Amino acid sequence: MPITTCIFDAYGTLFDVNAAAREAASEPGQEALAAIWPQLARDWRLKQLQYTWLRAVAGRHTDFWQVTQDGLDWAMEAAGLEDPILRQRLLDLYQTLSAYPEVPAMLSTLKARGLSTGILSNGSPRMLASAVQSAGIGPQLDAVLSVESVGVFKPHADVYDLVEAHFGCARAEVLFVSSNGWDAAGAAGFGFTTAWVNRMAEPVDRLYATPHHVLSDLTTISDLC
Ligand code: LAC
Repeated sequence: MPITTCIFDAYGTLFDVNAAAREAASEPGQEALAAIWPQLARDWRLKQLQYTWLRAVAGRHTDFWQVTQDGLDWAMEAAGLEDPILRQRLLDLYQTLSAYPEVPAMLSTLKARGLSTGILSNGSPRMLASAVQSAGIGPQLDAVLSVESVGVFKPHADVYDLVEAHFGCARAEVLFVSSNGWDAAGAAGFGFTTAWVNRMAEPVDRLYATPHHVLSDLTTISDLC
């Protein structure tokens, strides 16, 4: 069945999750952060994701904005940074993350070819609206779908179900793209064709399914449709 619908994960896939810590570290007076920002960004992301999985397993959902703050609080404490102004600055930057440079042209190509496009993300609707607006990619997206409509995080099947429910397409018509190996695997297990954008050249996740395609960035996505 031909691909009619290209769906993207948001954080780490379209939006650069390291940009908040990197940008804050380059601001005047942030010498302490400048020395350790890559570790802070790693811990922040790791804890944010761990909290989504743990809350999904425990049936204790809260939204991704809360989980993002909880992950940051863990990471700042681990780094010995006790600085409420920096905390707020990092959270502000997280709401306006930059998109990876290839994103606008890649989405334009998909739209020019008549494909449906969308985001499917753990992000809360408000976070996603803010990121999409600041990246200027709203006109190239047909839908921005948030897990908040089902109240559980990825890789729960209820989340991937949102795509078929919204677009009225069969799962075999969907190309799902994520830079998170576990998300690409989860979507492959669900029945989407999947592309893992393995920007960091990581090993493949040992899970119940594996991504169909592995790419180093988003520039060749339209070749898969
Ligand atoms: C998302 C996270 C997993 O956007 O990156 O859903």
